[in-house]
Amino acid sequence: MKTNDFKDWLAACQERVEKNLDHWLPAATIHPAHLHEAMRYAVLGGGKRIRPLLVYAAGGALGVENAALDGPACAVELIHVYSLVHDDLPAMDDDDLRRGKPTCHRAFDEPTAILTGDALQTLAFYVLAHDTAIQANAIARLKMIETLALASGSRGMAGGQAIDLAAVGRTLTLGELEDMHIHKTGALIRASVALGALSKPDIDPDVFNRLDRYAKCIGLAFQIRDDILDIESDTATLGKTQGADIARDKPTYPALLGMAEAKQRARDLHQEALDCLGTLDEHADPLRWIAGYIVERIS
Ligand code: IPE
Ligand code: IPE
Ligand code: MG
Ligand code: MG
Ligand code: MG
Repeated sequence: MKTNDFKDWLAACQERVEKNLDHWLPAATIHPAHLHEAMRYAVLGGGKRIRPLLVYAAGGALGVENAALDGPACAVELIHVYSLVHDDLPAMDDDDLRRGKPTCHRAFDEPTAILTGDALQTLAFYVLAHDTAIQANAIARLKMIETLALASGSRGMAGGQAIDLAAVGRTLTLGELEDMHIHKTGALIRASVALGALSKPDIDPDVFNRLDRYAKCIGLAFQIRDDILDIESDTATLGKTQGADIARDKPTYPALLGMAEAKQRARDLHQEALDCLGTLDEHADPLRWIAGYIVERIS
């Protein structure tokens, strides 16, 4: 990997995402201003933006212009931020710090944080339905909406969160743990790649399946790395409270298998993800970069 290429690409995409999110979020002066202020507080100025990056990387690998990917990239990030705001609530993980600043319910209040999540979720679908820059035909646009809805709901992220809450204090089997990770984190990551791919009119089903297998691998690797960082990193680097999983007796990959095996599993998944991309040309390099970044990241 040429580190500078990745850094430049990353910075350019992150800037693009910030600008577009700012565009779609109602101004903090618009009624009801308190809710709009909270939405902007939760979304803007933080986060790695991995899921939007995956939309750009998957679409870019297939030759789709960035302008056509801006809407899907924003939509998936809006769902992700909604999931973080709710994940941090006292009824869930009860966290005080997110992206280096007080969590939404701490900076505002609990009812506002609940409504912020609700409103971000519906804004995501509004963007997908409304954005005129999306090149996909009406059927592909509907497929995008369907994909994001499925990945966010009870058979995706929300279902994974339910599995997570029910698992607190229990020892899961490896199969159960992976099932939880695949739902709570993998589903949205998979949807991110799918949204990028669906932006290509008439995508070859074989290429779509390959990208989907890539996404499944990195989705699981992403949560394994998140679990590892909860142990090995520190609060300042993470921007969220280190050690929170152990404090709350959460089932995690390192807790179940040990640190060495958790890291090996992440490395194996990284290799498997690269293998799925096979001979896709250099336009797929951002997908390769992101796969490496996911297992090596320090925050
Ligand atoms: C954190 O996601 C929550 C998980 C799904 C593990 P990220 O690590 O992508 O968080 P941000 O968006 O960069 O803050
Ligand atoms: C969160 O998993 C997954 C979702 C938000 C859907 P975690 O609870 O491990 O995420 P962090 O560690 O708080 O970011
Ligand atoms: Mg959680
Ligand atoms: Mg959490
Ligand atoms: Mg975590």
